[in-house]
Amino acid sequence: MWKEKFPRVHLASLPTPLEKLERISNDLKGIELFIKRDDLTGLAYGGNKVRKLEYLMGEGHRQGCRTVITLGGPQSNHARMTAAAASKMGWEAILVLQGEPPPEEQGNILLDGLLGARIVWTGTEERSDVFQRVEEELRQKEKKFLSIPLGGSNALGALGYLQAAEEIAQAQEKLGVNFDYIVAGAGSGGTHAGLLVGKYMYDLSARIMGIAAADRDLTPTVDDLFQETSRLLGQEFSRDKDDLFLSRDYVGPGYGLVDEPTIQAVRYLALQEGIILGPVYTGKALAGLLDLALQGFFPEGSRILFIHTGGTPEVFAFNKEVGGGKNAKE
Ligand SMILES: Cc1ncc(COP(=O)(O)O)c(C=O)c1O
Repeated sequence: MWKEKFPRVHLASLPTPLEKLERISNDLKGIELFIKRDDLTGLAYGGNKVRKLEYLMGEGHRQGCRTVITLGGPQSNHARMTAAAASKMGWEAILVLQGEPPPEEQGNILLDGLLGARIVWTGTEERSDVFQRVEEELRQKEKKFLSIPLGGSNALGALGYLQAAEEIAQAQEKLGVNFDYIVAGAGSGGTHAGLLVGKYMYDLSARIMGIAAADRDLTPTVDDLFQETSRLLGQEFSRDKDDLFLSRDYVGPGYGLVDEPTIQAVRYLALQEGIILGPVYTGKALAGLLDLALQGFFPEGSRILFIHTGGTPEVFAFNKEVGGGKNAKE
């Protein structure tokens, strides 16, 4: 069994719930939409990164690290989750975040502070330069540290979504359904690489779909990570070109910037199902899924599984855009 080969720490509440979105399925007519609640992975508002961190921090623990360093955008969910994992393990967390500190502590930045992480702002410098400098400082202090790449996306991190694929296979059996598509927001590629490996490992018939949060071609990254993860597992999976579909059509004005369809998707899921999305990843992903459904991309009778990869604290940082100020004093 692959799981026994890799050190892992327990950080997430798994398996996450998987259920049908009845009201939206009624709206979509002819398509059944299901959701996997990876926003409920449990640690500090949850999200997809906890799955990756179980393996990444597990390896760090094996190496005897007590400090973790990672990097991201100012509202990085991955950075917040890394800080939470460090708290749970009694480690120090250092987060290298892009740009200047914002005027107000909100969303993930507020949580980073609450979780006791040290934030290093890059200002106008290249993020990777600042990251390397902080790594060098740690080396000079002779600290044993774990360095986690952007989004926790390396082969070890991708194992977290192999685990998710196993849960999906089990849920299919329990519910007596086979999903035709698995859709999730995409950023650094680890989630999709893990799902793709999991598709072959657990014999899922679904096509793996990603709605990108940033305007860059993720396919080569996912391909490389898919190969690396397969190698790490000692498996030789080769993938069919059509098994992965990554769309860049729903990025809108850019990474971390929200547009009207995204806001509408966040409001729609909240109103119809009582579930909160984040506008940076999951709001864009649902907006893309709904638009593709409207365009007739999914054949009649399709069963679609949407993975809610988290990012809910983002709504507080985008309160003006998402809330629209309708309940605030003028
Ligand atoms: C909420 C959320 N969803 C999806 C993703 C994308 O995951 P990945 O980086 O593995 O592509 C991220 C990445 O930061 C995220 O924070």
